[in-house]
Amino acid sequence: MRKGFLALVLAAGEATRFRSEKNKVLYPLLGKSMLHHVLDCVFKLKPAKVYVVVGSHQEGVMKDASAKKIEFITQRKQLGTAHAVLAAKSRLQKKKDMDVLILNADLPLLSPETLRSMLLFHRRKGNSLTFLSAELENPKGFGRVVRSPDRIKIVEEKEASPSLRRIKEVNAGVYLFRIKDLLKALPEVSKQNKKREYYLTDLVEILSEKQKVAAFKTSHVEEIVGVNNRYELARAVAVLRERKIKALAKQGVTVYDPHTTWIDLDVRIGRDTTIYPSVIIEGKSLVGRKCRLYPFVHIIDSRLGNRVKILSSTVIEESVIEDDAQVGPFSHLRPKTVVRSGAKVGNFVEMKNTVFGKFSKAGHLSYLGDCQVKERVNVGAGTITCNYDGRKKHRTTIEAGAFIGSGTELVAPLKIGKGAYIGAGSTITKDVRPGSLAVSRSKQVEKPGWARRLRRS
Ligand code: UD1
Ligand code: CA
Repeated sequence: MRKGFLALVLAAGEATRFRSEKNKVLYPLLGKSMLHHVLDCVFKLKPAKVYVVVGSHQEGVMKDASAKKIEFITQRKQLGTAHAVLAAKSRLQKKKDMDVLILNADLPLLSPETLRSMLLFHRRKGNSLTFLSAELENPKGFGRVVRSPDRIKIVEEKEASPSLRRIKEVNAGVYLFRIKDLLKALPEVSKQNKKREYYLTDLVEILSEKQKVAAFKTSHVEEIVGVNNRYELARAVAVLRERKIKALAKQGVTVYDPHTTWIDLDVRIGRDTTIYPSVIIEGKSLVGRKCRLYPFVHIIDSRLGNRVKILSSTVIEESVIEDDAQVGPFSHLRPKTVVRSGAKVGNFVEMKNTVFGKFSKAGHLSYLGDCQVKERVNVGAGTITCNYDGRKKHRTTIEAGAFIGSGTELVAPLKIGKGAYIGAGSTITKDVRPGSLAVSRSKQVEKPGWARRLRRS
């Protein structure tokens, strides 16, 4: 019985094909960085210790993963994947009787199930090295593995001659090594190749001379596709999106058009909710049961209760919408907005840092910012809170049952009393007592026959 295993994630590479100012492993896929996808997967196998080899743009990488129980190892120069492993030599030497799982950090689709099966296979067979592989029709983009009768040989994609007929397997960049054999063989890796790098892949050939080396083949081909450029990133995201939507479907959520729907991995959605095409739900959002999200709704880090209806083309950021409320079409809820149950927010209404009370309505063309609206308030079309005086933000409170006439400007700080009425077109600058009517607009002037006289002159 072998004693546990270490994990070594290689994330030091320069990722030239990504053409980025930051390390490619920091790019998010459905709300989670590439590195976090890999780390989450690795941690599920409960390794004795997880190391991440960093180098190129390392500060960002270390910040991204700082919350995890890992140790960073710096590879000062990026001289190849075998050289990256060499950077961890002193750590490996201390655990010679263990195995080490070494993997590239650009495999966000890898599943813990695949790794677990590979680990079992590796132990059962008593291998010195097991590498992850899959049978591919078109192994373009992978290092090729050619199997000769008695040993395995790797031929790098770029160096493989087109006449090579016996291509059987690919090397996914995921390895399980017996540490003592790995350490013995590492110095044998040379940089006699076009890129003049130390390739970890060479160890398959080197070790197979004397030790037991085998490929573990997965049937889940998509899992082993490395993300080397932005197109591959998009393709990987597409796979994750489909996985997420399939999982939701199993839980009783209807998503009519998986191709145009984007739901981040951390999003949770209740049963019998229906999602129409072109909806995006990001971050740590929560959607309750029996909700309906219509086309072009974009929700970010928000919480929706049950039976909530969000009509088309609505943006909701860091907000809460309680049961039975309705928002949209064309509404924008900015951070810290709470729409209480049964309330209605309609066409071209924007809210920010506002609590909008139970059964209250703001149907058309309004802006409510830094506002407390109690229950059963009617906010007429075109009502605007003037919350900013050029220097500071001020609050507006509207008590229960108040009626705000259309085209009203509420100049904050301001309080409208319970059940008060505001006449349409008013600019309100002073508090209004409960039950009062407040109007502030110029008196209407009418001059009979005026138009006719103008036309004659
Ligand atoms: C690598 C494999 C290739 C395999 C493919 C699978 C090698 C030499 N090639 O190619 O056979 O089919 O993955 O996806 O291993 N890295 C370092 N330090 C370095 C160089 C790279 O830490 O000096 C890290 C990178 O950050 C990356 C990983 O190693 O996470 C793989 O590097 P990458 O450049 O993506 O290798 P590929 O060309 O994709
Ligand atoms: Ca790669």
